[in-house]
Amino acid sequence: MDFKYTEEQLAVKEAARDFAQNVLKPGVIERDIHAKFPEEEAKELGALGFLGMMVDPKYGGGGMDTVSYVLAMEEISKVDASMAVCMSVCNSLVCWGLERFGTEEQKQKFLAPIARGEKIGAFCLSEPEAGSDATSQRTTAIDMGDHYLLNGTKNWITNGSSASIYIVIAQTDKEKGHRGINAIIVERGMDGFIVGEKEDKMGIRGSDTHTLIFNDVKVPKENRIGEEGFGFKFAMQTLGGGRIGIASQAMGIAAGALDLAIAYSKERQTFGKEINKHQGIAFKLADMATQVQAARLMCLNAASLKDQGEDFAEAASMAKLYASDIAQTVTTEAVQIHGGYGYVREYEVERMMRDAKITQIYEGTSEIQKIVISRSILAD
Ligand code: CAA
Repeated sequence: MDFKYTEEQLAVKEAARDFAQNVLKPGVIERDIHAKFPEEEAKELGALGFLGMMVDPKYGGGGMDTVSYVLAMEEISKVDASMAVCMSVCNSLVCWGLERFGTEEQKQKFLAPIARGEKIGAFCLSEPEAGSDATSQRTTAIDMGDHYLLNGTKNWITNGSSASIYIVIAQTDKEKGHRGINAIIVERGMDGFIVGEKEDKMGIRGSDTHTLIFNDVKVPKENRIGEEGFGFKFAMQTLGGGRIGIASQAMGIAAGALDLAIAYSKERQTFGKEINKHQGIAFKLADMATQVQAARLMCLNAASLKDQGEDFAEAASMAKLYASDIAQTVTTEAVQIHGGYGYVREYEVERMMRDAKITQIYEGTSEIQKIVISRSILAD
C-alpha cells in the first residue's frame, strides 16, 4: 500500500471536509434533537457526486477509488455520522452492487440517478428474525412468471423514507436455502409497498431508519439482480464493501471526537494550567490518536486491496471490528476529557458517543465480523 495520497485523493478529502464543516456542521445538533433527516444537505452531497463516488462516469459517477471514499467518509463522519451512513449505503450497498452485478438496463435506470445525486438508494436485508442470520429470510419473492410477488417486512432500513430505489433480499425457494434467495429492485410508489414506522434511535438520529412493508408487490422479473438464486451471494459481496464504509464511519466519528477533545484540552484550564498539561489527559489523547490512526490505516488497507482487485473481505471485517470498538473508547474518553460539558449536547461529544454504538451493530455485528475473520484465517 502506498501511504502517500494522490493529488486527486487529497482534493476529494478537502471537498468533503469543506462540505462537512460548512454545510453539515451548522444544523447537526438540531437534526439530532429532532431526529431530522438532512434532506437538503443530502441533495447537495449528491450533486457534488458523493453518493456515487466510485461509479463509472459513464453512469454519472465520480469514477474515484475506494481510498478516496474512505477519506471522504472520514470527513463527513467527523461532523455528521447520520449523513455518513446515508452516503455509505448509497455508495457501497446500492451503487456498487448495481454496477458490479446489474444489467445495462438496470444501470441506466437505477444506478445512474443515484450516481448523479438525483435519487437515494436503500439496501433491505434485515428482518425481525433475520439480522445476523441472513439466510433465514422470511420475506418472499414468489416467481409468478413475468414478475415476483413480494411479501414481508424489513426492519431497521437506512434511508427508509428518503430512498426511492430499494434493493430487497427475499426468499424465492425455501427448499434451496441460501441458493433460493434473490435480490430484487423495488421502486418507491409500487402498489403494496409501504414505508412503515420510523425508529426512535439512541444515535445517528438524523438517519431515517424505517420498517418497510411489502404486501403483494408485483416486481418485474427484469428487476432481479444477477442469476436466479444469486441474492445471498450478492448480499455477502456487497456487505464486504459496505463494511469498509462503516469502518470509515466509525473511524471518522472517533477522529471527530479526538479533534474536539484536543481543542477543548487547549482551552480548559484546571489547577492553573491547560488540562492537556496534566499527564492524565495528555496520555489519554495519545492513546486516542494512536487508536484513530490504527483504524484509519486498516480502512485504507481494506480499500487499497479492493482497488487492486484483491480479496478484501477479511481486511474489511477487521477494519470494521477494530474501528467500531475504538470509536466506543475514543468517544467515551472525549466525553471524559470534557467533564460535565461533555455530557451536554452543545459540546457534541455526547452525540458522537451515542452515534458510535451503532457501528458495532449494523452491517454485521462485531460478532459477525469475528465469524468472517476466524473463518478466513482458519481456512485451509
Ligand atoms: N462473497 C461471496 N460468497 C459468499 C461470501 C462472500 N463474502 N460469504 C459467504 N458466501 C457464500 C458461501 O461461499 C456459501 O456459498 P456456497 O454454499 O455456494 O459455497 C454461501 O454464501 C453461504 O455462506 P455461509 O455458509 O458462510 O453462510 P452463513 O449462513 O454461515 O452466514 C454470515 C455467514 C457471515 C454469518 C452472514 O450471514 C452474514 O454476514 N450475516 C450478517 C448480515 C449483515 O451484515 N446484516 C446487516 C444488514 S445490512 C445493514 O445493516 C445496512 C444498513 O442499514 C447500514
